[in-house]
Amino acid sequence: MTKQYFDRREFLKTTAAGAFVAGAGAALPSLAFAQGARIKVGLMLPYTGTFAPLGVAIENGFRLALTESGGKFGGREIEFSKVDDESEPSKATDNVNRLVNRDKVDVVIGTVHSGVAAGMIRVTREAGVLHMIPNAGLSQATGVLCAPNIIRTSFSNWQPGYGMGVALSKRKNVKNVVTIAWRYAAGEESVKGFKDGYLKGGGAIAKELWLPFPNVEFQALLTEIASGKPDAVYAFFAGGGAAKFLKDYAQAGLNKSIPLVGPGFLTDGVLEAVGGAAQGVETSLHYADDLNFKRDKEFRLAYAKTYKLQPDVYAVQGYDTGLLLAAGLKAVNGDVSRKKELIAAMEKITVNSPRGNWHLSKAHNPVQDMYLRKVVGVENKYGGVAVKALDDDPSVMAQCKMG
Ligand code: PHB
Repeated sequence: MTKQYFDRREFLKTTAAGAFVAGAGAALPSLAFAQGARIKVGLMLPYTGTFAPLGVAIENGFRLALTESGGKFGGREIEFSKVDDESEPSKATDNVNRLVNRDKVDVVIGTVHSGVAAGMIRVTREAGVLHMIPNAGLSQATGVLCAPNIIRTSFSNWQPGYGMGVALSKRKNVKNVVTIAWRYAAGEESVKGFKDGYLKGGGAIAKELWLPFPNVEFQALLTEIASGKPDAVYAFFAGGGAAKFLKDYAQAGLNKSIPLVGPGFLTDGVLEAVGGAAQGVETSLHYADDLNFKRDKEFRLAYAKTYKLQPDVYAVQGYDTGLLLAAGLKAVNGDVSRKKELIAAMEKITVNSPRGNWHLSKAHNPVQDMYLRKVVGVENKYGGVAVKALDDDPSVMAQCKMG
């Protein structure tokens, strides 16, 4: 699906203003910066496939932030271009080029899947266009490929994995763990984070099990888990795949005998869909459903009213992307051409988020608390802080040569 609300080239071709700008050549400032011009935001998100609900929640969150800011950021209205990236890395270059080179957007927002995000970054880094990542946790984004114009508002895959690992490392009765994940950047980095936290406690990893993304044929691997009888299972799946895994795990009876843990993506946004299958599953994430402070309560109420849906971590990330962009654009009075100042403003602020306060690291990754949560009913219930003000994997941060 490609949805375009406005095509600037068409506009330039067919209006008097276009003729004027075309005739005047490069000496005049572009129309985009003229007083009152709209800011062009390109959304590249999954709207089909296993991550489709995540893309929708991110867009909903972003639009809620925009509505709360009176429909404008930095005094400018926003004009959207949308591309469905299908969580398909092989299409990433073409898809992001639609936004950057065809639609000439001022800001690219995307995406969910780490492999697709890697393709996007190759283009946005080169083009220098402001690129905000509202989910994908790939380490490269704020590691070896970090850049002034690449800003992540979500997490690195390592962070929630590490939080869960630290929590489990303190449990005397958990001495060997099996990990199971999709084999791509997100799964691999999530498992690394888990191991970095967990292995400090003296436990061991009994086995690492992998499936290609977005495969959901879990049966053979669940049989292997059942026969290995580990003390716990750490699983990285998300969206539709997570829902299927939780149901299959329970159907195999494993939820009664082997505790299931993971990064919070395993249980966020899927609890209504899985019935009771996820009861008791423990996860770590930078959000929970009952944080119980004013900022979060207001956000949850506004989101539920607007969309007739409960928000999840993806909605919060979309919302925070809006908050951060709003702060940056406010600092430059909506003039996106003052990119350095806009980015400097974003680097300085503490985001007053429904997840709690967070700020960008030097590498442009959120520094944030990792919470422990447990599924009770249809909520991920807060169970304390696993790690306070967590930055990224130190070995990844060392690769970022910026700042
Ligand atoms: C990722 O590909 O980085 C990713 C996707 C979905 C999640 C988390 C991370 O829920």
